[in-house]
Amino acid sequence: MKHLIESRDLSPSDTKGILDLADQIIREPAKYAQVCSGKKLATLFFEPSTRTRLSFEAAMMELGGNVIGFASADSTSASKGESVADTIRVVQNYADIVAMRHPKEGSAKVAALHASIPIINAGDGGHEHPTQTLTDLLTINSLLGRLDHITIGLCGDLTFGRTVHSLIHALMGYDHISFALISPQELTLPSYIREEMVGRDIPFKEVERLESVIDELDVLYMTRVQRERFFNEEDYIRLRDSYILDGAKMKQAKKEMIVLHPLPRVNEIAAEVDDDPRACYFKQVLYGKYVRMALIMTLLELEV
Ligand code: NCD
Repeated sequence: MKHLIESRDLSPSDTKGILDLADQIIREPAKYAQVCSGKKLATLFFEPSTRTRLSFEAAMMELGGNVIGFASADSTSASKGESVADTIRVVQNYADIVAMRHPKEGSAKVAALHASIPIINAGDGGHEHPTQTLTDLLTINSLLGRLDHITIGLCGDLTFGRTVHSLIHALMGYDHISFALISPQELTLPSYIREEMVGRDIPFKEVERLESVIDELDVLYMTRVQRERFFNEEDYIRLRDSYILDGAKMKQAKKEMIVLHPLPRVNEIAAEVDDDPRACYFKQVLYGKYVRMALIMTLLELEV
C-alpha cells in the first residue's frame, strides 16, 4: 500500500496490520515517541475540519515528527487557480507524507497520480473518507471485540456521507455483517454501492424509520445531513432533522449496542444521549488519533 485513497485500497491484512499497530501504540505510546523524528507531514485541507486535521497533526507530533500545512483553500494558491496536481508536485519537496481534504470527489486520486510521496485521502467531497473508517473499525473492534457478526445501522445522509461509503466498503470484507440503511428516500445510498452489496450477496435492508430496526443493532452509526453538498437550502432544511436519536429511542436498543458518529453532530443526537454508556462517539475521537499514528508509520514503512 503506497497511498490510502479509498477504503478498498486496504486489504484485510493491511487493515489488520494497522489496527494491531494502533493497539500496540495505545498500550505503549512512549515506545513510538521518536519513530517519525526528522519526518514531516503536510496537512492540505481545502475544506473545513476539526478532528481529522488536528488528529493527524497530533498523531505526527506524538510520533516525534513535524507538521506543515494549511486549513483552508483561501490561504493557498488554489485560490489563484493552481491545480491539485501542481500543488502536490510542489508540496512533495517539503514533506514526507500528505493528508489531504478537498471538496471534489476524486481529488485525492489525482494527487496520488502525481505524487512521489504517500498521499492519504482525508475526505474527497461526497466520495470517501478512509481514515475515518480506520477510526471506526478500531473503535468497533476495541469496544465490541470483533469486526464480524455485526448488525450495523447507518442512519442519516447516506447519499453524501462519505464516512458511510468508506465504512460499508470496509465492513463488506468481514464475515456475517448485515446492514440496516436508515435514511429518507431522498438520501439513500448511491446505487454503485448498493449494486456492489447485491453482487456480493451482502445482507442489507433499507428503511426510513430508525425505530423499525433499532432493537436489532449492535452498532448504530449516526451521521449529519451534509448541508454543504446540497444543491438548495430548502431541501437541506426539510431533511436536516429527519432523525434525532434521543433517550426514548435508546430505550428500544440492545443494552450492549454502541452509538458511533464521525462528528460533527448537529441535531441528530440529543445531548441527553451523551450520558448513556452506549454513547461512544467521543471515545471514537481518541481512537482516531491512534489509528492515524499507525497509518503514518505504515505508509512511511517505519518500525520500532
Ligand atoms: C466527517 C467528514 O468530514 O466527512 N467528519 C469527520 O471527518 N469526522 C463527517 C461529517 O462532516 O459529517
